[in-house]
Amino acid sequence: MVFVPFCGHFSLPDLDVGTGINVDWFYRLPIVSVIAFLPGIESLKEDEMRKISVLIGICMLAALAITILAQQAPPTDLSPVMKDVAATTNKLRMDLMSSNAADVAADAEKLQGLFRQAAGFFKAQKAQDAVDFAKANVQRAGDIMKAAKENNLDGAKAPAGDLQKSCKNCHDVHREQLPDKTFKFKP
Ligand code: HEC
Repeated sequence: MVFVPFCGHFSLPDLDVGTGINVDWFYRLPIVSVIAFLPGIESLKEDEMRKISVLIGICMLAALAITILAQQAPPTDLSPVMKDVAATTNKLRMDLMSSNAADVAADAEKLQGLFRQAAGFFKAQKAQDAVDFAKANVQRAGDIMKAAKENNLDGAKAPAGDLQKSCKNCHDVHREQLPDKTFKFKP
């Protein structure tokens, strides 16, 4: 029973980065199993309870390990990340125009995660200049988020402008358009 609040604590929404594994379910599993045991739980002896607790604990550890591995694996396809970057950058621009500080902070946080993933991708591709471009945007997104959380949207404008201008630098060097109009990474 001790594990129920404990489980909830870990079910962060964006843990399935990179692999496509829905990590969320690994957290629900122990909760679901506790609920399944609930009716019979009074009739269990204390040592049986302990065994179940240990089992659930192992389950949780395995879930945590999978999560950490999933987070560390860089994406193998940058396209979905970039499409999300484009959509979120547009949204950020609109939210800045309408002075919606809470949404600006949320957009910046999302961009920070996306450019972290991009940095991981470029690192795996051994493109150090692109890693640096991406990391500069992680920094800018952090600055935007900080300013927005302090309700200082004027302070968010400079890093947001730099972030919006950064796309071309990297695309000019590392993005290539194929005859079918799709894009791919150019080493
Ligand atoms: C550090 C390098 C880098 C930065 C910075 C960067 N991009 Fe990209 N982007 C790429 C690469 C490489 C591709 C091609 C990869 C692919 O599409 O598979 C790409 C592709 C794209 C695509 C095409 C996606 C598709 O597959 O249709 C869009 C849209 C895009 N980027 C938007 C942006 C926007 C908007 C920004 C700035 C806010 C940005 N990118 C910043 C490297 C970068």
